[in-house]
Amino acid sequence: MSPSSPAVTSLEQLQELCSGCHRCGLASSRTQVVVARGNPQAKLMLIGEGPGQQEDESGKPFVGRAGQLLDRILESVGLSSERDAYICNVVKCRPPENRKPTAAEMAACRPWLDAQIQLIDPALIVVSGATAVEAVLGIKGGITKLRGQWQERDGRQVLPVFHPSYLLRNPSRAEGSPKWHTWKDMQDVRRRLEQEGWQP
Ligand code: URA
Ligand code: URA
Repeated sequence: MSPSSPAVTSLEQLQELCSGCHRCGLASSRTQVVVARGNPQAKLMLIGEGPGQQEDESGKPFVGRAGQLLDRILESVGLSSERDAYICNVVKCRPPENRKPTAAEMAACRPWLDAQIQLIDPALIVVSGATAVEAVLGIKGGITKLRGQWQERDGRQVLPVFHPSYLLRNPSRAEGSPKWHTWKDMQDVRRRLEQEGWQP
């Protein structure tokens, strides 16, 4: 957490602080702040880019088309997005027209993501798409090369994967396709969860 950020000691406090947050310009166009969904006790955290329209309206991350695909991918390897994962985004407010959040917006929102990682204390983190990979791992570009390669950060295992929005635009399930790779990646996540003591 950056020195200027408030110490956050509970998820309730986090929700409250985020609801009143005006650290960047995205606050002025949001309907709702989108903090998280899923299970705070989960060993797996999944981090996306930022809320879209449905998320902005509902206050929950990954509930639109991309989120529904994400749920199906998790289900295909026996994981439930509500029971087995804590799901959030790099930025908590919707960028207008779903543009990529700016570096300044990501930096402004960073204390909230850091607080989530501290409070949830996940063993595994899946970073979904190039923006989340950049924000969490500090590695720019090349998601095609990075996906599927586990990294370690602060004692946690972090796996870059394709973003479900990208998979919606590339629906083939053929061997070697983005969807096929993502399914393999999520099977790997399940194996690592089992090593961490996760049970179906
Ligand atoms: N895309 C994201 O990155 N996050 C969401 O919550 C929804 C779509
Ligand atoms: N580009 C992205 O930003 N994310 C993907 O998942 C794939 C391509």
